[in-house]
Amino acid sequence: MSVLDVVLYPDDPLTKVSKPIAAFTPSLVQFAENMFDTMYAFEGVGLAAPQVGVAKRMLVLDEPDGEKMCLVNPEILESEGSEDGSEGCLSLPEIYIQVPRATRIVVRAQDPLGNPLEFEARGFLARIIQHEVDHLDGVIFLDRVDMLTRHAKLQEWQEIRERLLLQGDRSSPSAF
Ligand code: NI
Repeated sequence: MSVLDVVLYPDDPLTKVSKPIAAFTPSLVQFAENMFDTMYAFEGVGLAAPQVGVAKRMLVLDEPDGEKMCLVNPEILESEGSEDGSEGCLSLPEIYIQVPRATRIVVRAQDPLGNPLEFEARGFLARIIQHEVDHLDGVIFLDRVDMLTRHAKLQEWQEIRERLLLQGDRSSPSAF
């Protein structure tokens, strides 16, 4: 079991666009396992590679009472509907906000072995995938809300970040 360091916003590479993965090697499978270990260690339900300092297009998730999956090079092919829902982020622990997301999406991706996947996701699963795919494009949940909320939450985050950097406990239940 390997728990990786989680990068706090706005440190690198969280605001960068991550690169596609071309090589499906045993080390990629090991990295996926390490990402799951890290997500569980911080009590999250999703984690994108840039959140552990790797600017590659890959994510893991474990929806409560639902799907557990690792998606490589995920693309959202279709999206429809919009619904506000609560989100937290392991890169901004303790910040929870209401974020509008599509209610139904169609996703194309690969698994860590390079096998193609295509499926439909709804509700909370669709929400997690949209949040993580945003991370791969350098976008965070605060970029998805109105300017006033964004500004207020960024100020709140500055204080939380300073405290976390001193105390070191960064678990963030149900965040992604
Ligand atoms: Ni996040």
